[in-house]
Amino acid sequence: MATHRFDPNFTDNVVNSMGDNVNPRFRQLMSSLIRHVHDFARENELTVDEWMAGVKLINWAGQMSDAKRNEGQLLCDVIGLESLVDEITFKLADEATDAPTATAILGPFFRADTPFRQNGDNIVKTAPKASDPKGEMAFMHGRVVDFESKKPLVGAVVEVWQASTNGLYEQQDKDQEEFNLRGKFRTDDDGRYSFYCLRPTPYPVPDDGPAGKVLKLMDRHPFRPAHIHIIATYDGYKPLTTQIFDRKDPYLTNDSVFAVKDSLVVDFVERKGDPQAGLELNYDVRLVPAAAE
Ligand code: BEZ
Ligand code: FE
Repeated sequence: MATHRFDPNFTDNVVNSMGDNVNPRFRQLMSSLIRHVHDFARENELTVDEWMAGVKLINWAGQMSDAKRNEGQLLCDVIGLESLVDEITFKLADEATDAPTATAILGPFFRADTPFRQNGDNIVKTAPKASDPKGEMAFMHGRVVDFESKKPLVGAVVEVWQASTNGLYEQQDKDQEEFNLRGKFRTDDDGRYSFYCLRPTPYPVPDDGPAGKVLKLMDRHPFRPAHIHIIATYDGYKPLTTQIFDRKDPYLTNDSVFAVKDSLVVDFVERKGDPQAGLELNYDVRLVPAAAE
């Protein structure tokens, strides 16, 4: 029995309009989406103007997106959808295990073509401009290990990327060299990786488009707490996508895209006797074997 005053058969008619040749998972997702969207419209008695404002926002997001800007993903991020999908994926994959490194969202600034660098290299290829905060150099190092046995994973790949002190990733900033603040590293015979980087600094997600408009309408700020992105891969293990967050960051408890997890909060400590960096971070990545087929 319908609990509203509108056509009680309308939603079923739309859902049942799908033919026989529909992928079962697509049928499940599409039916559920239609039911939720219709319930949303009925519950709120959505007006034509409100619906059209939503359509315009989605169109604007599409028009603004290109190879360097993914406004659709950003819209999902500011309403927590990418972080929720990450949580669902991580829980489904690891319900029965104790403590592999937690996952976090990929975000829109990943680049698939990041080059390999040697362990110990500096990923700061373009120093922050004199007009931007100078930043602090840090030496990040650690091992990639099997989460249970702690056995080092030799030849694992650790990929990292971070924003510069002006809050921009290299593809957003014509003054940064291509692949600045990015690198892929292969672990050595002890399973170790290492590189010099910047201590990460907080930055606002791009807020001059529809995602920024949604944030303003929700009376929210656009800042992400300081973080470094990591993807770690090793044959026979589940690929890990995550981010680590600086414990000292003021936005740790109110990330604009809801990606912070307690176990991903790290402490940069003083590094002595290294002219290249006054800070260091020792961070081990714990991977889970891929489920046996
Ligand atoms: C990022 O961490 O790079 C990011 C994530 C979500 C939205 C914008 C940026
Ligand atoms: Fe980021």
